[in-house]
Amino acid sequence: METPVILKTTCKGKIKEYFAVHAGKLHTDMGIIDLDELQTRSFGDTICSHLGTEFVIQKPKAPDLFKYAKRTGAPMMPKDIGVIISNTGLCSSDHVLDAGTGSGILAIFLGGIAERVVTYEIREEFMEVARQNFGLAGLSNIELRHGDIAVEIRGLDEKFDVITLDTLDASKVIPYVPEVLYPGGFLAVYSPFFEQAKEIREAIEKTRVTDVITIETIEREISFTVRGTRPSTSRVGHTGFITIARY
Ligand SMILES: C[S@@+](CC[C@H](N)C(=O)[O-])C[C@H]1O[C@@H](n2cnc3c(N)ncnc32)[C@H](O)[C@@H]1O
Repeated sequence: METPVILKTTCKGKIKEYFAVHAGKLHTDMGIIDLDELQTRSFGDTICSHLGTEFVIQKPKAPDLFKYAKRTGAPMMPKDIGVIISNTGLCSSDHVLDAGTGSGILAIFLGGIAERVVTYEIREEFMEVARQNFGLAGLSNIELRHGDIAVEIRGLDEKFDVITLDTLDASKVIPYVPEVLYPGGFLAVYSPFFEQAKEIREAIEKTRVTDVITIETIEREISFTVRGTRPSTSRVGHTGFITIARY
């Protein structure tokens, strides 16, 4: 696979960017870019379209993958991923168990920090997209496994520092979580609805948990215009609740 790049320029006061994966020609509103020229450039250099527009070359990071990677379903939003990372204290020596993989966006953010991520996806047809996304992210520390986490967790002979669950049946997995978490490890569960969050809390309360919290994160972008400065009127509303439990 080619190494992807972000190509960024300013047009009429607005930032325009392109996520380029393949070699060859990239057609943009500001002319054609010969991507083969990237071989002689580094990140931070510029490349010109045939119309002379200059684009800065940037290395894609996880938020770019969230925007541009192929999706098999709804990926977790960066604001919710941030809550998981900050509340579990995820660090470079951590081993993470994740399910379901979906488009692999959460696994990519986790893989960029942790030592290793093992991620389970029940639908085999979704796995190829996730595998490609891990390749685009340049991550080799994510192990993608096929299977139903509610079944697979029972046979695991590994232990993890953090477990992340983004599946509708997460409550069925929770009874087995203490067996595969290191002491002091964290479980983080994403639930789109109050009812699911309540079901998760009830399942957690039946285990030997030490601490548990459920959080909703509201993100407000600030808009700066000539008329004034205020929270943007178009914003992401509710996404989900994150329940964090420590064992
Ligand atoms: C909402 S998506 C996960 C999105 C992912 N966190 C991301 O950021 O891209 C849920 C995924 O879980 C998978 N799934 C559902 N139940 C599962 C289970 N029991 N075991 C493994 N995967 C499961 C679904 O097929 C789907 O791809």
